[in-house]
Amino acid sequence: MTNINQLISEMTLEEKASLCSGLDFWHTKGNDRLGIPSIMLTDGPHGLRKQGEDSGQLDINDSVPATCFPTASALAASWDRELIYQVGEALGEECQEEKVGVILGPGVNIKRSPLCGRNFEYFSEDPFLTGEIAKSHINGVQSKGIGTSLKHYAVNNQEHRRMVIDAVVDQRALREIYLAGYEIAVKEAQPWTVMCAYNRVNGAYCSENKFLMTDVLKDEWGHAGLVVTDWGAMDERVPGLAAGIELEMPGTNNGNDARIVAAIKSGQLDEEVLDHAVERILVMIFKSAETLSEDYEYDRGAHHAFARLVAGECAVLLKNENNILPLQKTAKVALIGEFAKTPRYQGAGSSSMNPTMLDNIYDEVLKLVGADSITFAPGYPEKEDRVDDDILREALEVAKSAEVVVICAGLTDMYEVEGLDREHMKLPQSHNALIEAVSAVHSNVVVVLSNGSPVEMPWVDQVQAVLEGHLGGQAGGGAMADILYGDVNPSGKLAETFPVQLEDNPSYHHFPGGPKTVEYRESIYVGYRYYDTVGQDTLYAFGHGLSYTVFEYSDLRLSQDNITDNDTLTVSVKVKNTGMAAGKEVIQLYVRDVESTAFRPDKELKGFAKVALGPDEETVVSIELERRAFACYNTAVNDWYVESGAFEILVGASSRDIRLTASVNMESTQPEPPSEDREALAEYYDFPMGVQVDKESFETLLGEAVPDNSPERAGEYTINTPVSDMDDSFFGRQLAKFMKKQIDNLFAGQEDTPIGLMMTSMVREAPLRTMLMAGDGRVTRGMLDALLTAINGKFFKGLGGFVKAIWENR
Ligand code: BGC
Repeated sequence: MTNINQLISEMTLEEKASLCSGLDFWHTKGNDRLGIPSIMLTDGPHGLRKQGEDSGQLDINDSVPATCFPTASALAASWDRELIYQVGEALGEECQEEKVGVILGPGVNIKRSPLCGRNFEYFSEDPFLTGEIAKSHINGVQSKGIGTSLKHYAVNNQEHRRMVIDAVVDQRALREIYLAGYEIAVKEAQPWTVMCAYNRVNGAYCSENKFLMTDVLKDEWGHAGLVVTDWGAMDERVPGLAAGIELEMPGTNNGNDARIVAAIKSGQLDEEVLDHAVERILVMIFKSAETLSEDYEYDRGAHHAFARLVAGECAVLLKNENNILPLQKTAKVALIGEFAKTPRYQGAGSSSMNPTMLDNIYDEVLKLVGADSITFAPGYPEKEDRVDDDILREALEVAKSAEVVVICAGLTDMYEVEGLDREHMKLPQSHNALIEAVSAVHSNVVVVLSNGSPVEMPWVDQVQAVLEGHLGGQAGGGAMADILYGDVNPSGKLAETFPVQLEDNPSYHHFPGGPKTVEYRESIYVGYRYYDTVGQDTLYAFGHGLSYTVFEYSDLRLSQDNITDNDTLTVSVKVKNTGMAAGKEVIQLYVRDVESTAFRPDKELKGFAKVALGPDEETVVSIELERRAFACYNTAVNDWYVESGAFEILVGASSRDIRLTASVNMESTQPEPPSEDREALAEYYDFPMGVQVDKESFETLLGEAVPDNSPERAGEYTINTPVSDMDDSFFGRQLAKFMKKQIDNLFAGQEDTPIGLMMTSMVREAPLRTMLMAGDGRVTRGMLDALLTAINGKFFKGLGGFVKAIWENR
């Protein structure tokens, strides 16, 4: 065992500071003199993306093959803690073989809007479900001696201007919605690292946010690991270290290590702060070095088979009229849609990895039922989104002679890309046109969807069944075949609401905001908390999912009728499989505060369990509720507060399918805090449907005026202004043009690929300071400051500064 404190005492100031940033894009620095190894941290989260030794920073697609599991939005729909733990174990094993110390994930940002470009990488709109799934994932990976990185902390709910946007969010929404998932994961799984997000929260960059990083994460929740920046998220290093950011990634020669040394020498920063940071970094390095000292080889075939099982547990049967599913293995089936042969199985961006194998629905169905029962037509062009009449005509021909038509549709990989948000919630028009045309001439149509976030379904009443396969990973094709033919009984439930249309979503009027701020005016009314409170119709409710069997709920019992906030309430309910097939059910427990002084949503998820039952089998499910299940965050006392009075315990199969209800009386032991100004917050007590909350109400809730959101002008630009925003300045425009040209050259020929899309959007929105990272030591802070001076209108002064910076750095 390495004595870390002893080691720290032997390190020079420079050696200590140097450990606080990476060696390169993916490694921490080692130190031969002191025997400190260098370890690798890499993406994540649904499979390992380890770039080959010779590949550069931008070679995102060049990674060693690894098992691609379903993405996070699918995993959460399993509602299965044990299964996710096992996924974590498998990821850990693959890291051990590949000598990766920390796998970057899971991502737990809340799905505020269905449009967020990375929703496929996040779990849910609900923080409790998010936290439970995240904790299982982390515990699984870390049980193998491999670290995780809980990301992107915090309030990173959109891609648009993610490196500069200021999320303006009230304290209740922050605590109850946006931080609660992290809180569960940190307290119950202790991720080795937490990744700080790019954006600002209420004015301060996450990378300098002492409130989030130290007060909440370390002091309140007791996080024992370290905080690593998202790649390039560091703004000012010295305040960042003081705020609680231990490790800056990636490693670039941006001068930040020297800044730490200088700050300590000048007395601006206490050396103890650095020592504490180094201690946390060394703990991580030595823990992972111990695991990686042993060789390991995982079983590729077994992991692939497991990925198929997982994808089957995650799929959600949204609709199944006349029990059209499961299909008879002898039925004449037309499989239509290019996705049947060319699967869409993961999202684009830093999480995109190379699978060890790749199944598709067509081949797997063929294996199950043989070639005689199956015909195929592509239905739509593989790449472009355009209705091709010839392809469509062929599909209709093929459909005609089949008893059942299975259409494989969804979002193409140009729709779900890191670095940009979707613009709408629609399927490609060619997919919609196919489903509409086929369902107009055929009465047995099943739609299988591949997508990482909700879509509108204008054709839903014309088809018999809809199976949501999400982005099912490398074995998703097999899992869909299993479900279509009844070898697997679907048991997934939606981890997010499918609204009828985008306009129904509560963030609609304030997403994605910009140029400087995004206002979270809907506060705690996120997802079903909004839809169920205001009575908004949804396409499919949170928690919805059908089965090939039927479950009956009875005998709801509470351990007590009267409780205090120090008691544990045990809720039990009997669940029976009254159908013909074995299956699994997710029992959901929601709590409703019947008469509340604070404004609250109609109900909130506070417990769930997944049980497997054979035909006629029954079981009693018990769920325990502690005080937090009844509490809301009170801003007058800055703490969680449980109010006295009646609470309802609602048990059901979705947020809109409550089967049983019981009541419990709460006698709170907490002193009553001062009450809120109900009149000023009237809009939040009687939350409006479909219209935006007015600014005054939001400001009352926020406790201050919303920050200015007007674009910056020449003279105001800073190192955090995106270069493409500097159009009020002649030199700014020239720089933007130059940068655009560079990126166009770099990605020439890739404009219509997800990676091309991502890179152009990221460069367009990147603040000036990212040149420090991209320049790898050739661009200095002095040069950028001088450039800024010129861009802000002081040409000669800027030029002088520029020459000086080059001279100093020669
Ligand atoms: C993403 C992170 C990712 C990191 C390293 C960032 O751009 O936001 O999720 O882990 O890059 O690839």
